Amino acid sequence: MLSNMRLYSGISSKVRAQKYVLTKYFVGEPKKNDFQIVEENLPDLKDGDILTKAEFLSVDPYMRAYMAAYKLPTDMIGGQVAKIIDSRNEKYPVGKYVVASFGWRTHTVCNPDKSSSSLELSLLPELGTYPISLALGVLGMPGNTAYFGLKELCQPKPGETLVVTGAAGAVGSHVGQIGKILGCNVIGFAGSDEKCQYLENELGFDRAFNYKTVDIKKALKEGAPKRVDCYFDNVGGEISSTIINSMNKYGRVAICGAVSSYNDAALPKATILQPAIVQKELKVEGFKVTRWNNRWEEGVQANLQWLKEGKLKYREKTYYGFENMVDALVGMLRAFEDSKNLVKNIQAIHNEVSCSFEENSDIKVFQKLKEELALYFNGSLKKFTVPCKTLGSEFQKEVWKNLQELPYSTTMSYGDFAKTMGRPASHARAVGSACGANAHLLVIPCHRLVASGSKGGFNSGKDRKEWLIDHEKKFSI
Ligand SMILES: NC(=O)c1ccc[n+]([C@@H]2O[C@H](COP(=O)([O-])OP(=O)(O)OC[C@H]3O[C@@H](n4cnc5c(N)ncnc54)[C@H](OP(=O)(O)O)[C@@H]3O)[C@@H](O)[C@H]2O)c1
Repeated sequence: MLSNMRLYSGISSKVRAQKYVLTKYFVGEPKKNDFQIVEENLPDLKDGDILTKAEFLSVDPYMRAYMAAYKLPTDMIGGQVAKIIDSRNEKYPVGKYVVASFGWRTHTVCNPDKSSSSLELSLLPELGTYPISLALGVLGMPGNTAYFGLKELCQPKPGETLVVTGAAGAVGSHVGQIGKILGCNVIGFAGSDEKCQYLENELGFDRAFNYKTVDIKKALKEGAPKRVDCYFDNVGGEISSTIINSMNKYGRVAICGAVSSYNDAALPKATILQPAIVQKELKVEGFKVTRWNNRWEEGVQANLQWLKEGKLKYREKTYYGFENMVDALVGMLRAFEDSKNLVKNIQAIHNEVSCSFEENSDIKVFQKLKEELALYFNGSLKKFTVPCKTLGSEFQKEVWKNLQELPYSTTMSYGDFAKTMGRPASHARAVGSACGANAHLLVIPCHRLVASGSKGGFNSGKDRKEWLIDHEKKFSI
């Protein structure tokens, strides 16, 4: 058996941990300046503690809805898949992953044996060859919301008609697919024609309607001629009242969320439901997925099995960089994607120069650089050393020296950069090639410099930002 001492390397106090603190209540859409990104020192690990580094962070509608209930300032809530990078707990060794409600933070110290329900934590389930990010989507909270909410509350039977709103989202798209697996006639409502095509053509929904352009009553008559037996409600509001008024006797409604109202300051009004509920003797039940915490694994395994059988499809949209959490949240709420939105935590924000340069042409130093970069990206090293004499013309050295002078997060064109060197903007090409010639070394330290969005530059004509993201992914551990 491993001893605690052998597991523990004592790096927590050296980690540069960051977290989002909400300092202003959301008004309308969440905004970057509603938050402060705060750096904090983490405590040394006590017996039973683990130190984790976020790998993927989830953004979900409840984040928009729930924060109004917190006293400010408060740490931002949310789920993440995190890697254990230090441990004094034999059940949670270094290298394993956990799924936990740590919030929007890069690193966390906690004792999993003492974690409260507000800090739900479990070891990542065995996902085979599937990506670990699925533990935040189809094989995690949204997947289980769909699985338990539909099966337990709607109890759909073969041949029945199931209607889903928010149908192209993480939960809704999953609900509709389970409905098909269970033999239902599935009708979805989503917010664009593209999303509806995706639901019908790729996910097998019987009909999908763009709720922004159709008459809901007419759509229901067309898609659900035998009226509605089960309604999985993700959005609330008037569309839900219309659907509930189109239900059959003993119909079942699972109230999952009310995303249509989350950005509104006051709750909108909708047509009264009681007459339909009484006349049709409907069963209407709200739920939180946490109700089935003690059956969590059952949901994950059922969804995993359907995934393996090709009966369940999913889409993910990944944003890169902890600094892009708000963009990911807003993107999800604005409904840009018919997918589950995630953020991959690649370390990118450094308000100081993150590397120093060392004259060294020995090829072996690249190995050292790689090792240092790995530590840098897991947060345990603040600066790394770039060997830079490989192609070292005087001009290149001048470029490198000036890069060191710039804050890491600087965004600048090559022309403007040339000016920082006291050269005319027309030297931009030369600067570009000085960087480009040794791109794999220079990109990371100066990546904000080159993330100007223009084409060309470093590699194969790819958009530079994309190229850099690929590069960081490669080095990120
Ligand atoms: N009860 C629980 O335990 C639980 C757990 C997880 C999620 N939920 C709830 O389930 C729902 C779906 O969550 P999700 O994670 O799958 O999010 P999602 O559906 O992936 O993303 C949100 C979607 O909501 C739709 N939307 C935004 N504004 C809307 C509006 N004004 N009217 C109608 N639809 C609007 C958008 O799609 P369109 O383009 O189609 O408008 C958007 O893509 C949410 O209400 C969430 O709070 C509940």
